[in-house]
Amino acid sequence: MKKRVLSGIRATGRLHLGNYLGAVKGMLELQDNSEYETLYMVADVHTITTPFNVEELRKNRREVIIDYLAAGLDPEKSVIFQQSEVNEHLELAFYFSSVTTIARMQHLPTYKDKIKQYPTHNTMALLNYPILMAADILVYKAGLVPVGIDQEPHLEVAREIARKMNQLYGTDFPEPKRFATKGEYIPSLRGEGKMSKSVEGSFINLTDDLETIRKKIRSIPTATAVGGEMNPGVKSLFAFASLYISSEVEKFKKDFEAGSLQFVTLKDAISEAIYKDLQPLQRQRKKIESDKNYVDKVIKEGAEKARKIASKTVKEVREKMGLL
Ligand code: ADP
Ligand code: TRP
Repeated sequence: MKKRVLSGIRATGRLHLGNYLGAVKGMLELQDNSEYETLYMVADVHTITTPFNVEELRKNRREVIIDYLAAGLDPEKSVIFQQSEVNEHLELAFYFSSVTTIARMQHLPTYKDKIKQYPTHNTMALLNYPILMAADILVYKAGLVPVGIDQEPHLEVAREIARKMNQLYGTDFPEPKRFATKGEYIPSLRGEGKMSKSVEGSFINLTDDLETIRKKIRSIPTATAVGGEMNPGVKSLFAFASLYISSEVEKFKKDFEAGSLQFVTLKDAISEAIYKDLQPLQRQRKKIESDKNYVDKVIKEGAEKARKIASKTVKEVREKMGLL
């Protein structure tokens, strides 16, 4: 039997370069490897764990599917679907909550960050976030999850839940591992932290044109540091350089050390390389956007395929837990 892969991205806005390099590139690589059966969803239910707008959620979850298709996720090779259409995720999450303590959830760094960001939204849904994510993965018995490094604490929870369920009820859940890419941590354009949808001015969207990319990359703070030491902005810039213009990095580094680097030259070279890499995706996106029926069909068929696998797992769990 093929090994299963599952991944998802929340429907909080258009995808950015961090999502693309940290998650979508890994999804593509595994989709094109015949050893794996791949399932990729838009995590629309996870979107309601932080403040959201109903109309935007409806729009954004479709945009994520369109971004997936434009990036090369292929419904002939992968099951592409919306999480909310497969109720089994929610049902399994409730069963999983019975083997998870509140204290364990409260200590996760992702939870602490979110309540700092939204102090008046410390909800049960937010506390349950990692349990639902574990259910997303384990309802397909997926053993491999292409996501960025920030998701590692959630995967640890999924592994603990798998172990507990197997011990207590004799299920056969795998312990899911992260599938890492070269771009597992893309820095913010502001010089500190990671590129994130929720931080204004930190990201490049997959749909940005060359002018926009150039402006954003030029905005990375690179005020020259003393003694050739790299400040966070310069570090970020070189991180982008290694990903996009790897053959020229050494030359630019030497210039930096010698104090002769023209930052704008390096920045513009990176911008052009990013734009060139995104162009095929942007062209594809235009085509897909205008084909409403195609997108509808992908979403409908994806849900049907996903439900088939998910309902089998939930039935098994109900039997083993004495609920059937
Ligand atoms: P955001 O933080 O922008 O809201 P999400 O939490 O929706 O992004 O993340 C979706 C996927 O993209 C996850 O797999 C996550 O690990 C990955 N990801 C997000 N930001 C980055 C980044 N800066 N570098 C690498 N991967 C990232
Ligand atoms: N927590 C992930 C994020 O913020 C999104 C997600 C939800 C996910 N369910 C998942 C990722 C299952 C991988 C597998 O990006």
